[in-house]
Amino acid sequence: MRKLRVGIIGLGGVGRVHLAAYRASERVDVVAVADASPGALDGELAGPFARYASVAELLASRVIDIACVATPPATHEAIVAQCADAGVHILCEKPLTLTPQSAAAMIARCESAGVRLHYGASYRFLPALVEARRLIASGALGRIRLMRESVVDGGGPGRQNALPPGHYPLGGPGGTGMGLIDHGVHLVDLFSWLTDSAVTEAHGRGNVSGETLAPEFLSMRLANGAIGLLAYDDGTFSSLLPGEGVFSAGASWGADGYAPGGAWDANPGSIHIHGERGALRVFHYANLLYHRDDSGLRQVPIAAAPPPAHFRAQIEQFAAEILHDLRPSCPPQDGLAALEVVLAAYAA
Ligand SMILES: NC(=O)c1ccc[n+]([C@@H]2O[C@H](COP(=O)([O-])OP(=O)(O)OC[C@H]3O[C@@H](n4cnc5c(N)ncnc54)[C@H](O)[C@@H]3O)[C@@H](O)[C@H]2O)c1
Repeated sequence: MRKLRVGIIGLGGVGRVHLAAYRASERVDVVAVADASPGALDGELAGPFARYASVAELLASRVIDIACVATPPATHEAIVAQCADAGVHILCEKPLTLTPQSAAAMIARCESAGVRLHYGASYRFLPALVEARRLIASGALGRIRLMRESVVDGGGPGRQNALPPGHYPLGGPGGTGMGLIDHGVHLVDLFSWLTDSAVTEAHGRGNVSGETLAPEFLSMRLANGAIGLLAYDDGTFSSLLPGEGVFSAGASWGADGYAPGGAWDANPGSIHIHGERGALRVFHYANLLYHRDDSGLRQVPIAAAPPPAHFRAQIEQFAAEILHDLRPSCPPQDGLAALEVVLAAYAA
């Protein structure tokens, strides 16, 4: 299969992880990177790729087939429009953008330009979650009743860091990197994807950029009758007892930023999935999950390469969809749907 040429736009926290993950790919080559911030392209960024100080310069070079947009959410719409007009396919990080109108405009722009827009639902490529979806589809858990995630920890309100207005403009949805709009948007998408069922009803409360941070929650009802619950607050203290945790094979994102893999993690991100015939505990970035049913509790090991290889799996899937005209695995309409559900918390 022909290798597609990728340009990464935004070489901050996650852009650098995409870059590292794509290096071992047999389906894509990173041929260019672009970042508007002086200094972002410095440092140990050795690689045989061109470096550009703006999206316009990168696109004018006409060297890429796919743009990986890893810039702050507030910039996604304008950058996606530029890439679409240049005839480049786009993988856009989550959240797709900040309003449903903006998301609809992005989708329409890409459709009229004849380019594909892949929503960066990276959790769909995490090995433990792929296995959870397979188990649910196999009927092993029976009908799903309840899915939940809570991230409640921290060092008190004084230690909370809201993402800056460059990510989330003042007055709109905002909060910290482990809050509703920035992290919960992954889970909203995931609950639908895991169960092949749309969210039909949502209520909650979310933090507004520039305002005092408070606990956030979102409760959802899905078309299959399942309930989804999210609770976030990193402005308090953990109530976990010793004895929880996993030896995490994969590198992961947590309250303290990006953590390398291969270490014991006492408080890793996880979801609980409860069905009529069984339950799963899934640690997002681990290469294992726990499955309990009538016959007891067992640990299910997963052989796939640990994170951040999921970013490579994601771009390779997107490349295959482009080359073979396949059905999109992460259509942008799913990014719009996840955004609408999160924003329902603000409307409530
Ligand atoms: N999928 C995941 O697991 C995951 C994890 C973290 C972040 N994200 C998402 O990735 C995106 C980036 O997050 P981050 O934490 O890496 O942000 P960041 O602030 O660390 O990095 C963003 C980079 O984009 C650059 N940039 C900003 N505006 C630009 C422009 N107009 N043109 C070119 N470069 C520009 C900045 O200079 C910076 O280097 C966000 O949408 C975030 O939600 C996804």
